Amino acid sequence: MTGGAGYIGSHAVKELRKQGFEVVVFDNLSTGRREFVRDAELMVGDLEDRDDVLNLFRTREIAAVLHFASLIQVGESYVHPRKYYTQNLSSSLNLLEAMLEADVKRFIFSSSAAVYGIPRRIPITEDHPLDPFNPYGQTKFFVERILQDYDRAYGLKFISLRYFNAAGADPEGQMGECHDPETHLIPNTMLTVLGKRERLEIYGTDFPTPDGTAVRDYIHVTDLAAAHVLALRRLMTTPQSEFINLGANKGYSVREVVAKAEEITGHKIPVRERPRRKGDVPVLLASKDKAERLLGWNLRHSDLTAILETAWRWHREFSR
Ligand SMILES: NC(=O)c1ccc[n+]([C@@H]2O[C@H](COP(=O)([O-])OP(=O)(O)OC[C@H]3O[C@@H](n4cnc5c(N)ncnc54)[C@H](O)[C@@H]3O)[C@@H](O)[C@H]2O)c1
Repeated sequence: MTGGAGYIGSHAVKELRKQGFEVVVFDNLSTGRREFVRDAELMVGDLEDRDDVLNLFRTREIAAVLHFASLIQVGESYVHPRKYYTQNLSSSLNLLEAMLEADVKRFIFSSSAAVYGIPRRIPITEDHPLDPFNPYGQTKFFVERILQDYDRAYGLKFISLRYFNAAGADPEGQMGECHDPETHLIPNTMLTVLGKRERLEIYGTDFPTPDGTAVRDYIHVTDLAAAHVLALRRLMTTPQSEFINLGANKGYSVREVVAKAEEITGHKIPVRERPRRKGDVPVLLASKDKAERLLGWNLRHSDLTAILETAWRWHREFSR
C-alpha cells in the first residue's frame, strides 16, 4: 500500500489487518506519520524514486496494490500545477511500471469526486461526464485513463474509488485527520474549538442552498477503509475493472456542520464569512448505488454525529 501513513491509508491498514491481510506500507512520510502505521511493515521510500519502487516489488511478494499516496491540495494545485502533474503522475507511473515488471495485476486507486468537475446532475453517478477543472482533479482523471489503457494492453485490473469528502477519525482514537496546511472543514472546525485557529472561515454564503452555504457529502474514514477491503476482495475473485463512487448520498451544509460541532464540543465556534472560492459548487452528492451493489458496502459510521464525535475525540486527545 502506498500512502498508508496518511489519513485515509492508515485507516485502511487497520481495516485490512483486522481482516487478516498482510500489509506493507510504502510511504515517504511527507505528510504521513510513522505512528499511524501501527500494525504493518513500513518501508520509508519515495514513489518518485523508480529504483526504490522496483526494489519493493523485487523483495516482497505482493498480491495487490492500494495506491493512496498523492499530493492532495486543490488550491495548491492551481498555484503549482507542475508539482502536481509531475509528482502525482510520475509516482503512479513508477508504481504501475514496477507492478507490471513483477506481474502484479490488481490495483485499487484513490480517485476523487474532483474528476467529475461541475455536477450536471445530482446525485452524481459513475457515468456522469468527467470534466475536472483543477490540476489535482486532472491528475486523478489522467491516472484513471492510464489504468484503462493498461487494462486493455496488459490485463491490469483496477478499481478506482472516487471518494467524496472523507471525514471523521478512528472510533478507537488511534488515527485522525491532520493535514498541514489543513484545508478541510471538519478538522479546521476542531482546530478552531481548540483555539488553534482564531476563526473558522466559511467560503460562500450565497450559494443556492437552503442556508446559503455549500452542501457536501461526508463519508466516515472508517467506512471508506471498509470499502477498500471489499474492493480488494472483489478484485481477487472478479478480475474486472470498475469506477466506483464512495459517498453517502446525503449532504450537510457548512452551517449544519458548524452547528452540530458546537453541540458536540460544547463550544461556540467563531466564524468569518468569505467569498466563494474558485471552482466551489453549491452541492456535491454521490450516488452510492454501485458501491452497494458491487461491493456490498454499508455505511456504519457516516452520520454527521458519529463523524464529528470521532473527529472531536481524536483532535482533543491528539492536541494535548
Ligand atoms: N481526504 C479526502 O477527503 C480525499 C478525497 C478524495 C480523494 N482523496 C485521495 O485519497 C488519498 C489519501 O488522501 P489523504 O487525505 O489520506 O492524504 P494524506 O496526505 O494524509 O496521505 C497521503 C500519504 O501519501 C504519502 N506520500 C505522498 N507522496 C508520496 C510519495 N511520492 N511517495 C511515497 N509516499 C507519498 C504521504 O506521506 C501520506 O502518508 C489521496 O490520493 C487523495 O487524493 C482524499
